Amino acid sequence: MTNEFNFDEIVDRSNTYSVKYEALKTLFGRDDITPLWVADMEFRSPKCIRDQLEKYVQAGIYGYAAEPPQMKPVIARWMLQEHGWKVECDWISFIPGIVRGIGLAVNFFTGPGDKVVIQSPVYHPFTNVPQGNGRKVLRNPLKEGKMDLDNLDSLLTAEGPVKMMILCSPHNPGGYLWSREDLVQVAEICHRHGTMVISDEIHSDLCLWGNHNICFASVSNLAAENSITFGAPSKTFNIPGFASSYAIIPNQELAKPFYGWLEANELNCPPIFASLGMITAFTEAKPWRDAALRYIEGNILYLEDKFSAFRAGGVQLVEPVRPQSSYLVWLDCRNLLRRLAGRYNLQPEDQALLEDYFINKVKVGLNSGTMFGPEGLGYMRLNAGCPRSMLKFDLPEVK
Ligand SMILES: Cc1ncc(COP(=O)(O)O)c(C=O)c1O
Repeated sequence: MTNEFNFDEIVDRSNTYSVKYEALKTLFGRDDITPLWVADMEFRSPKCIRDQLEKYVQAGIYGYAAEPPQMKPVIARWMLQEHGWKVECDWISFIPGIVRGIGLAVNFFTGPGDKVVIQSPVYHPFTNVPQGNGRKVLRNPLKEGKMDLDNLDSLLTAEGPVKMMILCSPHNPGGYLWSREDLVQVAEICHRHGTMVISDEIHSDLCLWGNHNICFASVSNLAAENSITFGAPSKTFNIPGFASSYAIIPNQELAKPFYGWLEANELNCPPIFASLGMITAFTEAKPWRDAALRYIEGNILYLEDKFSAFRAGGVQLVEPVRPQSSYLVWLDCRNLLRRLAGRYNLQPEDQALLEDYFINKVKVGLNSGTMFGPEGLGYMRLNAGCPRSMLKFDLPEVK
């Protein structure tokens, strides 16, 4: 194993302004716990990316940067090779991060008071960004990890007009990949109701166990006409600090005005680390990505084993949902919480007992399930993108 691919290495992140470490005390009340929350990985980014940036840093002049001409062709090639989706370069624009991209789209395509639908439990900015911009968020809850498409149709009928749907594909948390049939139906329902779809595909390059991702816009003409796809190398190659992301819009009637507005505000100009990081990732770092995914699968199997032995009264207390994509593991802790709370029908206030158990007994910092929506009651999210030794925590017995 070369040093580059040594995923067992513990990398010291002190003095690197890492949110995952710096915010421990504020969020968890203590900083002597293992941080397994924010979705970045504990692995050094691929050496080819580090080398490329080092070359730039060594040159010593940090002037205004032009977008490298190869950037969009490189993204288009990646989409074709990895996802089988043929994308034209003029469908693509740089955007400075995906949450920012969602904010920009919400501001450009909807107005104050407009409605936006999400499928919860889901990545919390899907709620916070529209709400923070004065939009109304409607929830179409997932049913045990499946989309409730009948309810989506009814909701859009009852609440219409609903301007926008924000789709998480693959889904965070839960790591679900959506089937072609589901995506075709989402496209049809949303098109029929005049609801444009923002498809956040940031986790799409991290498919596990031989799974394949299907890009939303590629499933039908209705999907292509009525959607914006956001993607990024950030999660996949562990470079989220570069805020390097892209939008893909096949429908030029949507792309031209939106991209014109981004251009007018210089929001489509990639900072140099963002463009160099993206190009190097997509052209040279695939072997690193593939090796990282195999290591992450090993971590997930390790966690499954560990939790299967964590029982009381013959009942498994924590059941990890095996992610189909990405390194985030959605832990179904409802049995544990029932035991901690001493009741079967869990109440929102019980979640604090679960948080307390993981922070103060197990001594790990996880994301609490309810931050992704009320449907996350009894769940926690664990980041398994780390050396296996960081997952070797004990699970103290529960009375
Ligand atoms: C679904 C999803 N979208 C977006 C992001 C963040 O993207 P960015 O850092 O580019 O804003 C995350 C990070 O966890 C995510 O899970």
